[in-house]
Amino acid sequence: MLGVHRDQDLTPAAKRVDQAARGALKKALGDLPGKAGSTLLLRGLPGVAAERVLLVGMGERKEFSENAYREAVRGAASALKDLKAKDAAFFLVDSKVNSRPVSWNLRQAVLGLREALYRFDVLKTQKKTDAPSLAHVTLPLGANAQLEQALAEAQATADGAELARTLGNLPSNICTPGYLAEEAKKLARQFKLQIEVLERRDMERLGMGAFLAVTNASHQPPKLIVLRYSGAAKGKKPLALVGKGITFDTGGISLKPAGEMDEMKFDMSGAGAVLGTMRALAGMEAPVNVVGVIPTCENMPGGHATKPGDVVTTLSGQTVEILNTDAEGRLILCDALTYASRFEPEAVIDIATLTGACVVALGHVATGLFANDEQLADEIREAADDAWDRVWQMPLWEDYQEQLRSNFADFANIGGRPGGSITAACFLARFTREMRWAHLDIAGTAWKSGREKGSTARPVPLLVRFALRHAGKK
Ligand code: BES
Ligand code: MN
Ligand code: ZN
Repeated sequence: MLGVHRDQDLTPAAKRVDQAARGALKKALGDLPGKAGSTLLLRGLPGVAAERVLLVGMGERKEFSENAYREAVRGAASALKDLKAKDAAFFLVDSKVNSRPVSWNLRQAVLGLREALYRFDVLKTQKKTDAPSLAHVTLPLGANAQLEQALAEAQATADGAELARTLGNLPSNICTPGYLAEEAKKLARQFKLQIEVLERRDMERLGMGAFLAVTNASHQPPKLIVLRYSGAAKGKKPLALVGKGITFDTGGISLKPAGEMDEMKFDMSGAGAVLGTMRALAGMEAPVNVVGVIPTCENMPGGHATKPGDVVTTLSGQTVEILNTDAEGRLILCDALTYASRFEPEAVIDIATLTGACVVALGHVATGLFANDEQLADEIREAADDAWDRVWQMPLWEDYQEQLRSNFADFANIGGRPGGSITAACFLARFTREMRWAHLDIAGTAWKSGREKGSTARPVPLLVRFALRHAGKK
């Protein structure tokens, strides 16, 4: 596989092949559409040992960017699939992408290839017969310790992303709170993590009134999963990751409309991202301490359901008037965040498909970032840019807090339509005042709709990169 730009400017590897083939490659270039990711297959090039050479378009050189590189990787991967290639030498990795180091290309190539080769067909009786044939990819880079490290990191990150992706794609009748707890136990066994799963009676004893209010009408028992990975010194304070695990969000009594409601099986994507990130970090034996806290349940209507206007007492002691039962994510998260504070985390990040308003604000490109600590926000933004799993910071000003006022409790669980993703974050902020905290709203980025419907596994790459950079591994 060779990368070529539209302006006929060959990458170093392509130049070598062209010389060996006495210009045959350059001649063929005219047939390659200019768009990044387009491909052209050449067979039997004179003077070239490889049976087939796949040219991969990378767009105009002067417009070459992170996105064009990723398109090229994706295009190359899908062509490899169609060609039923078994072995491939991936010469795209040596192209310079802005000021990114080669290790960046390498990580993106591995993640892109693994994503393209992922298939979710466990629930189909007629499996496609063209099972992925690609067994071996050579990334032609001089071996050095830094690249070895990047490769190991990318492979483990891809394993974690795959777990998050599959959990997201599984329907809610399979991926229940109990299923997530079993998956967490499997991870614990495989990677020697500590695990504890709190049951409904534990939550009652603790006083998690907000979490319990969401699970009231469900026939599936709720779980609070606590998973610990210790890769650093015992005394080092952990990073806490808290993931929203609503395995299906009907809205409850504030019922959602029927259209596209199936997509609310993805409402546990934050939980999937936490499990995926922990799998990645444990898999690469990262020198970090992480505690994952996952509140998981269904949000259902029914005779026992919480009703608009009901007032509950949260684990923190603060009371909440539940004006809309569809604003359930913040209710399970607030108790989980309070619970996470007992681990005295150095920082806590929650990950949640929290608001439709975030999709309106940022679309499907950037994850919403909120933080009560600017240094933490900067660190997350830099890691997100590095992982090309990008975020955009939103304000968390006190001015928005008044939208949550209630006549009947300490505050309400909704703040009206204006700034909906901000007031949701403001709600969570009332439970994290004592911690360095950030909130990632992944409502627009955790899955794709339409023909390509499926989990994206975001923000696993961002969280892995953050944990590693935070531990001093650039
Ligand atoms: N899980 C949803 C958020 C969501 C909606 C994510 C659509 C992706 C696509 C969340 O629980 C929710 O229902 N939020 C409400 C909050 C509102 C009632 C204040 C929303 O966004 O409509
Ligand atoms: Mn909801
Ligand atoms: Zn939800």
